Amino acid sequence: MQRNLDTFAIPVDIRPNTIVQEDDGATVHWSDGHRSRYDMEFLTHYTNHNVRRDEDYVVKMRHLWGSEAATNPPTISYESVMKTDSGVASLTNTLMKWGFILVENTPYDDPDKTRQLLERIAFIRHTHYGGFYDFVPDLAMADTAYTNVALPAHTDTTYFTDPAGLQSFHLLSHQPAPGAGSGETASGGKSLLVDGFFAAHILAKRHPEYYHILSKVPIRWHASGNPGITITPEILFPVLEHRPNRTRPRGLFRIRWNNADRGVVSFINHKYSPAQWYEAARAWNDILKSEDVECWIQLEPGKVLIFDNWRVLHGRSAFSGVRRICGGYINRDDFISRWRNTNFPRQHVLNMVVG
Ligand SMILES: [Fe+2]
Repeated sequence: MQRNLDTFAIPVDIRPNTIVQEDDGATVHWSDGHRSRYDMEFLTHYTNHNVRRDEDYVVKMRHLWGSEAATNPPTISYESVMKTDSGVASLTNTLMKWGFILVENTPYDDPDKTRQLLERIAFIRHTHYGGFYDFVPDLAMADTAYTNVALPAHTDTTYFTDPAGLQSFHLLSHQPAPGAGSGETASGGKSLLVDGFFAAHILAKRHPEYYHILSKVPIRWHASGNPGITITPEILFPVLEHRPNRTRPRGLFRIRWNNADRGVVSFINHKYSPAQWYEAARAWNDILKSEDVECWIQLEPGKVLIFDNWRVLHGRSAFSGVRRICGGYINRDDFISRWRNTNFPRQHVLNMVVG
């Protein structure tokens, strides 16, 4: 499916000899004898739009949610995903719609089963922390995610030019710490999810100017806590990223938000001062921490949480005891490819990406 014609071998003075209009398209007879057929759908779309055909569709299919999502979160069974492509279609489509899903009845005696589940979507992305992870709290990893403290809502890997597309957690076990007294328990550690696109809609409505500032001021992000590793995006990125020429929440496609990984707010921005950025960021932070936006879910063995890291922020409450968690990252592009190819016929998929 690659272009096998050298576009630049076509004479620059080539002209259409005749154009035959048909009910469902048009045929062009060129001066060099070549004949091209264009169907009406193609002509209509590209004479009216400069965007991909699935862009509006993807925005329209989104279901924005707040705290109420905890009552009846989207779920799917492990078996259907492992055994059928329609299960994968449903899993990926729910991720496109909701931004998260819980995969139930996943075996938790062996973390490899979770790895196999994630690989039904696409291969697991390696980072400086490794690939598929299976860990208990360990400060040696030099990241707050590996402690037992509460974590406010954030997105992961803000420091990559291409942040991880999907993130996942499977709580394999949660037990009292070894040597803990009989009164000590394994408790806490509820998972927090926030629909960042819903939060962005609220910000845009309440404070349009703050929304604009967070979408315009480029920010530094970095990962520098591990010896020999300093990762930072190739260019600075704002908190709210939009498609070209779009400025409203409908054009929003990615959120970067992790105050722990954020660099210094630059003074070299002539339109907005750091003070204005912090004012906007404070309002955004207030929305992310509001009760109607926070969705709290208790993870348990057997229930794998998978979410869209470009849209859904995650966090957790503090916990006691020892938690063993496994999971992994999946690239955005590979996830979307799987979604397209399991949910639409081949010709439709090609229309989405080629023309
Ligand atoms: Fe995280």
